[in-house]
Amino acid sequence: MPTLPSYDQIPYEGHALPDTHPDTLATLGRLLGVATAPPEACRVLELGAAAGGNLIPMAVGLPGSEFLGVELGAEQARRGQALIESLGLTNVRLLHQDILDLDGNGGAFDYILVHGVWSWVPEAVREHILHLCARLLSPTGIAYVSYNVLPGWRSRSMLRDMLLYRTRGAATAGERLGQARALLDLLAAGLAEDPRPEGQVLRRELEYLRQARPSYLYHEYLEETNAPELFGDFLARAARHRLGYLADTQLHTMFASTLGPAAQAVVAGVEPQAEQEQVMDFLTLRPFRRTMLVRSEVAPDLDIDLDRLYGFGLYADLTPVGPPILDRVEAQTYGSAAGGSFQVEQPLTKALLAKLAAVYPNALPLADLLGDGAPATETETCLTEVFNLYASQALRLTARSATWPTTVSERPRATALARAQAAAGEGHAATARHRSLGLDALSGMLLTLLDGTRDRAALAAELVAAVIAEPELAAGLSGDLEAAVPANLDRLLWVYAREGLLEA
Ligand SMILES: C[S@@+](CC[C@H](N)C(=O)[O-])C[C@H]1O[C@@H](n2cnc3c(N)ncnc32)[C@H](O)[C@@H]1O
Repeated sequence: MPTLPSYDQIPYEGHALPDTHPDTLATLGRLLGVATAPPEACRVLELGAAAGGNLIPMAVGLPGSEFLGVELGAEQARRGQALIESLGLTNVRLLHQDILDLDGNGGAFDYILVHGVWSWVPEAVREHILHLCARLLSPTGIAYVSYNVLPGWRSRSMLRDMLLYRTRGAATAGERLGQARALLDLLAAGLAEDPRPEGQVLRRELEYLRQARPSYLYHEYLEETNAPELFGDFLARAARHRLGYLADTQLHTMFASTLGPAAQAVVAGVEPQAEQEQVMDFLTLRPFRRTMLVRSEVAPDLDIDLDRLYGFGLYADLTPVGPPILDRVEAQTYGSAAGGSFQVEQPLTKALLAKLAAVYPNALPLADLLGDGAPATETETCLTEVFNLYASQALRLTARSATWPTTVSERPRATALARAQAAAGEGHAATARHRSLGLDALSGMLLTLLDGTRDRAALAAELVAAVIAEPELAAGLSGDLEAAVPANLDRLLWVYAREGLLEA
């Protein structure tokens, strides 16, 4: 049976990736004037889908859409297909197959996802990926491809060179990983007091890598193939397959204004947009890109008309830092759950964010959020602020109509997917808005208990018993267990409701 032995031995930890979700791609496409397929009725293909950690949650959330994943690692494909069957899903399949063997006869797809694959497969596979995109993309379809870029990835490849050298003689994937970790520790110790700029650069890379998940360390730094390339070269290859650049899913990275006045002045005269972004890659030493491609006949409208925002629902989970200043135009910082921080000035925008935070993860249409009493100039400034928040992914747009309960019922019941992910013990679950929620041992255990049969008292009793049996489960709790566990239980149930993991 064909497989990729390194992925059998060290499976890739697949997470929900919001940038690849059809809702993200559909709304961004529409904002740029492309009539994209509705996320609730579309066809999605993922190439190199691992065990479906990204694809399966999408299929659960979009039952009217059809999903196909292709994965060469036999063990990952088997695990993914087993999860699909155990959840009884009929709108998603995970094929154990080589991308190279796909002939492009499966009908058109509205979204083709290629995340974490492009730079890490041999040249023939890369070429075939573009061939498949060109052949299978529907007329207004979007292909999402992520990849390592030059010159920025060169600062990472220094460590890759060292790790590949050190692990040459290892017999197994596990042994290579062990040797790699030992070298990282050794380098960190040796560079601890190095005052030179080179030492600082290496220390920063080491810090990043020593905290990385083992599967990332292995498949990014120790696999045979890792071929970063220039953004411009990637686009030239895509153009040979009649595929054109639509946008980066990290929209703010397309605007030179985010780099400060000096860089903005340098980039200002550069045309077209793609060349401007190439220069921005030089200035920022960006190491990674998430590129959206469309058929070359599709002409995106980069001059974004902000009135298009009225065509979407908005959702956001931002909290004002410090006392809210709602009655006047004054800068206020907002924080996101992921640790980001964003500035807003307009009272209209602040009121809008408060309304969105109250209903998260649900969305509200822009027209309802703004009402019709505000003067045109204020509305205009508010739209600009909303767009800036959207470009930074602090606020998101949706073309979906789904809603989730925001309260916790008497006997809470988590979604079957969340319980299955918690039971698998991978330390994360996909949220309703397709983010990855980290789970420690106790919060994972709680999710598995939420099957609708237990009330709060029963849940607290089971958690206390579990903590007594396994004291390490209480690592994050302080004080008296009998009080700490119920308080933690309430907090976790609130988080699960807020992330759309609980059923009505
Ligand atoms: C780094 S993982 C990314 C997984 C997934 N796209 C994600 O982001 O969660 C790359 C995946 O591509 C798969 N892969 C590599 N070469 C392949 C090929 N020729 N055909 C199918 N899958 C392949 C690997 O087995 C691995 O599971």
